[in-house]
Amino acid sequence: MNISVPRGTEDLLPENTKQWQVVEEALKGLAHTYHYDEIRTPMFERTELFQRGVGDTTDIVQKEMYTFEDRGGRSLTLRPEGTASVARSYVQHKMHGNADQPTKLYYLGPMFRYERPQQGRTRQFTQFGIEAIGSADPAIDAEVIAFAMDCYQVLGLKSLKLVLNSLGDKESREAHRQALVEHFKPYQEELCSDCQMRLEQNPLRLLDCKVDRDHPTMSSAPSILEYLNDYSSQYFEEVKKHLDAMGISYVVDETLVRGLDYYTHTAFEIMSEAEGFGSITTLSGGGRYNGLIQDLGGPENSGIGFALSIERLLMALKAEGIDLETGQTLDCFVITMGDEAKYTASSLVYKLRKAGFRTDQDYLDKKMKAQFKAADRYKAKYAIIIGEDEVNNGVANVKNLVEGEQKTIELDKIIEQLETSV
Ligand code: HAM
Repeated sequence: MNISVPRGTEDLLPENTKQWQVVEEALKGLAHTYHYDEIRTPMFERTELFQRGVGDTTDIVQKEMYTFEDRGGRSLTLRPEGTASVARSYVQHKMHGNADQPTKLYYLGPMFRYERPQQGRTRQFTQFGIEAIGSADPAIDAEVIAFAMDCYQVLGLKSLKLVLNSLGDKESREAHRQALVEHFKPYQEELCSDCQMRLEQNPLRLLDCKVDRDHPTMSSAPSILEYLNDYSSQYFEEVKKHLDAMGISYVVDETLVRGLDYYTHTAFEIMSEAEGFGSITTLSGGGRYNGLIQDLGGPENSGIGFALSIERLLMALKAEGIDLETGQTLDCFVITMGDEAKYTASSLVYKLRKAGFRTDQDYLDKKMKAQFKAADRYKAKYAIIIGEDEVNNGVANVKNLVEGEQKTIELDKIIEQLETSV
């Protein structure tokens, strides 16, 4: 039996990885512009980190984690997201003590969730995300949101919708929690078994339920915005004022609750509005987490961040018909005839590469015509042709495949000549 990839994962072949590289470079470039530095954390962590960080009652922790025991009997989990790991690392390395504050970090790497695979939802996916920790200034909320939007705009995407909400501080959330319990309690029996439990443990999660989504009590559920205390609503107003000042448009959606427990105040998602994007339209999401660092044993510092998946970003590019310029062409393709020429070619190809020219040659003993075809297929700028005569005379024929002209050049002058013309 042939072995193929596990369900919900995929191979990225060279025709895909070229696009990925362009996207990754663009995102890293943005991180550089916005003054965020890279952090790399392990792909697995102690299970407890996600139970405490992401939240015991979330779908991610209850249903979607790849958890295993290692040979030492420790419970480990493949990371389902990046924020908890970054927060752990921030606490572990006492980054709050660093001179540069807030601490601004970005990450890029695979995440793992045991979800039902469908278009835009895989079991291994790649997140690019940022976290800004150590500031509770609404201006940095706006910075993170602007960054998130820029990730798409820099690649030419236009059909985007930014959705914004506030989940308030602890006090506001508690008031909202009580209102939710009062609202749903009379209908508890009608709700799915998960929601019955959520009502006891974490009623906000009810609003995120996929099973009870259409239950009549959902649309009339109390809105968090009505329960924001003065500080929380003032904070939300400030974030909006910064976005307005930056000319970033958004819609406020009081039903946006996000699927992770650490959020306080600002929560946002970016959706694709491109036709034919598919049913899962969320491209990225993020928000503020004012208790997480402390929950993980650190100081009272607050943070905000977001993450996107590159898979969905690429889907959006496809839906908007944007072809990324992968710029993958060869500078030189060396064409040989006869055995002696092959030694000369090996030497020349080696030297060209050392000089930084993207170069290749034939390794399949192809006829000359087929070698020219290969040079065309690779979009080589120059074909460098070496036969027996050329070897004897210490020269090669250099053909500019774009302009069509051909020159005979001494072998040890080729690099010099190309350097002035490539
Ligand atoms: P999240 O909303 O769970 O947030 O995930 C962020 C993004 O990851 C989603 O918007 C989506 O693009 C992508 N994503 C999630 N699950 C999958 C999947 N199964 N397949 C493909 N893409 C997926 C977080 O993970 C938070 N850590 C974001 C954050 C950072 N909040 C603050 N800082």
